[in-house]
Amino acid sequence: MSVEERFAFLAEWYDPNAALLRRYQLLFYPKDGSVEMFDVKNQRIFLRRTKYDCLHLEDLFVGNRLNIFSRQLHLIDYGDQHTASKLGSKKQRTLAMIKPDAVAKMGTIIQLINDAGLTITKAKMTTFSRKEAVDFYAEHQSKSFFNNLLQFITSGPIIAMEIFGDEAVAAWRRLLGPTDSSAARTEAPDSVRAKFGTDGTKNAAHGSDSIASAARELEFFFPSTVAHGPINTATYHHCTCCIIKPHAVAEGLTGNILNAILDAGFQITALQMSMVEELCAGPCIALEICGPEAPKAFREFCGPADPEIARHLRPQTLRAIFGKNKLKNAVHCTDLPEDGILEVQYFFKILDG
Ligand code: RTP
Ligand code: MG
Repeated sequence: MSVEERFAFLAEWYDPNAALLRRYQLLFYPKDGSVEMFDVKNQRIFLRRTKYDCLHLEDLFVGNRLNIFSRQLHLIDYGDQHTASKLGSKKQRTLAMIKPDAVAKMGTIIQLINDAGLTITKAKMTTFSRKEAVDFYAEHQSKSFFNNLLQFITSGPIIAMEIFGDEAVAAWRRLLGPTDSSAARTEAPDSVRAKFGTDGTKNAAHGSDSIASAARELEFFFPSTVAHGPINTATYHHCTCCIIKPHAVAEGLTGNILNAILDAGFQITALQMSMVEELCAGPCIALEICGPEAPKAFREFCGPADPEIARHLRPQTLRAIFGKNKLKNAVHCTDLPEDGILEVQYFFKILDG
């Protein structure tokens, strides 16, 4: 008789009422997708084994935050050897950065990352100050190309992303290709640098070169201790707000949606991935969309709220193309033009913690 497989984690939940950090053993049974929780301190069942459709095996890794029945749990450790070796061994995080010369290609690059089976777990558009660039590239300070590199990397916005997946450090470096874009074109013609890079310095994107660099570079952009990392690029000027909804992010539609928005002639002047405190919802991506006619024109481009109706009446709109149903309609956009700036402020000032 075989024993049913289960995975065990140590999870923390901040209980706002008691102002206490509570610890649970969380068990997940992949066979029927059920969860069970034990209160570690009081040694008793907290949640009887219950089916929970919103939880998937790929969400289960140390460091991740899960919403389970409205509680945001932080997985802080594997609960047993079986779980650690089966779910933990190959998983890594790395920093991917789209450099100023390739920000216009963000959609295609994000698509490539998703197609490779890697998940984007954090993202932010920011512009390097000179000081930040010197800090970030400190290891290259004595190199002959250092000044060129600083000049280039501060020349426009970049997009920093945390990427998660099997052997993510090497996997993303493989997608990037050789440092020199011309070498990339001969040695790895399908790579990001071959397709979008120009030369040895303007080479489209960056990837951490080791697990240790990844930890340092992720901390640089997404600090765990101080409240703020580098500031986002929101302008709060002639803009509207677009949210790529959690279901669309989870389905890997982000890249295609960004491409569609850019192809339609809108400017994406800020981008940030954040968690919304909503049952079952994963991260969403907030965009600041700019242009004098942006609020009205962008709303029209999103199309009718119901994708079914959109497919009949306005088949070229985002919701017609990427929406599933009324609830999962791919994107949110600001309704009233005068609310555009307020919504952008909500996502880029209040939520950017
Ligand atoms: P990255 O750090 O951006 O992922 O690139 P990498 O590891 O492949 O290359 P690295 O040696 O770390 O260099 C960092 C960045 O400096 C610029 N560079 N210019 N000879 C040159 O002109 C030269 N060499 C390097 C590139 O932007 C390179 O990505
Ligand atoms: Mg490097």
